Amino acid sequence: MSTSHHNKTKRILSGVKPTGKAHIGNYLGAMRNHVNMQQDHENFIFIADLHSLTTVKNKAELQGLIIDLALDYLALGLDPKKAVFFRQSDIPEHTELTWILNCLTPMPMLENAHAYKDAAAKGNKEINAGTFTYPVLMAVDILIYKPDIVPVGKDQKQHVEIARDLAGKFNRTFGEVFKLPEPYIPKEAAVVIGTDGQKMSKSYGNTIEIFASDKELKKQVMGIITDSTPIEAPKAPDTIYQLYSYFANEQEKADLLEKYQAGGMGYGDAKKQLLEKITETFKPYRQEREKLKNDLKYVMDVLKTGAEKARETASATKAEVWDKTGLSIS
Ligand code: ADP
Ligand code: TRP
Repeated sequence: MSTSHHNKTKRILSGVKPTGKAHIGNYLGAMRNHVNMQQDHENFIFIADLHSLTTVKNKAELQGLIIDLALDYLALGLDPKKAVFFRQSDIPEHTELTWILNCLTPMPMLENAHAYKDAAAKGNKEINAGTFTYPVLMAVDILIYKPDIVPVGKDQKQHVEIARDLAGKFNRTFGEVFKLPEPYIPKEAAVVIGTDGQKMSKSYGNTIEIFASDKELKKQVMGIITDSTPIEAPKAPDTIYQLYSYFANEQEKADLLEKYQAGGMGYGDAKKQLLEKITETFKPYRQEREKLKNDLKYVMDVLKTGAEKARETASATKAEVWDKTGLSIS
């Protein structure tokens, strides 16, 4: 469906940190929405590579992660003609404005931010200052582009709220520059469950990766932890069913549910059905990714062009900030 430019009234912005292989949680909670929103909105999507440095400390690894994520997005249908797709580190204004907002950020606000709080609660004494000020960089990522909407997973909502707080604080202190963005959390996929029944996350090692090899994908799906209900017994909707329901249509969902209730179907069969569904869903994207992998020059060019566009907005916002704070004298 084609849309006219008049409909692109709202500006959407989101970023994803390159930290590992994209999984169903990332796809449903973030990436898919980002790609879909390019149709009707002015869309800024970026690779938050500076944020990755809080944990990644290896050159080849970081480079690989950045390229992987760029490939993932383009394979999933992100259209660089419709969306501005770029790397955070290509825009120096992100780090420059982080200092300005750091100087407005109360320490307790960051002490309460969950990434830092969780790490501190675990007794981690090696937490770096980057992890502590992570939400400030993220606030700048958002505010610098003055978006209306920031689509994120539930776990990032607090960070968007911090961005709103800091925007308000800047505006009250120095004068109106920033727009207060709204977080947008897709309801149907607020928290995708992983193979062990808790939230799907790279850090729990319970993911189903959307671009894994067939063999690896099979291993992940067949590894879903189930209870010990015998084959003959009726079964309650479980992790397999939940994951299946994201990709199946109403009829297919009802069918699986019926088989669960009737008994006689083992979890092994249900997993096979899920595996087929996932394979079918992601097949075109996987093929596209293989193609793109052979044309990395194109991928790097896309990011470069995206950075040039993003920088126009970022440098304009920086000029306003420099003006309001007193850093620019003329
Ligand atoms: P991970 O927890 O695997 O490290 P990230 O923190 O890098 O994933 O998340 C990247 C994006 O994907 C974020 O917008 C996040 O909210 C979303 N996301 C991650 N895991 C899930 C999940 N299980 N359900 C829904 N969204 C998720
Ligand atoms: N912190 C986000 C995550 O872990 C990634 C991110 C960085 C982001 N900057 C952002 C998301 C700005 C939305 C807007 O997923």
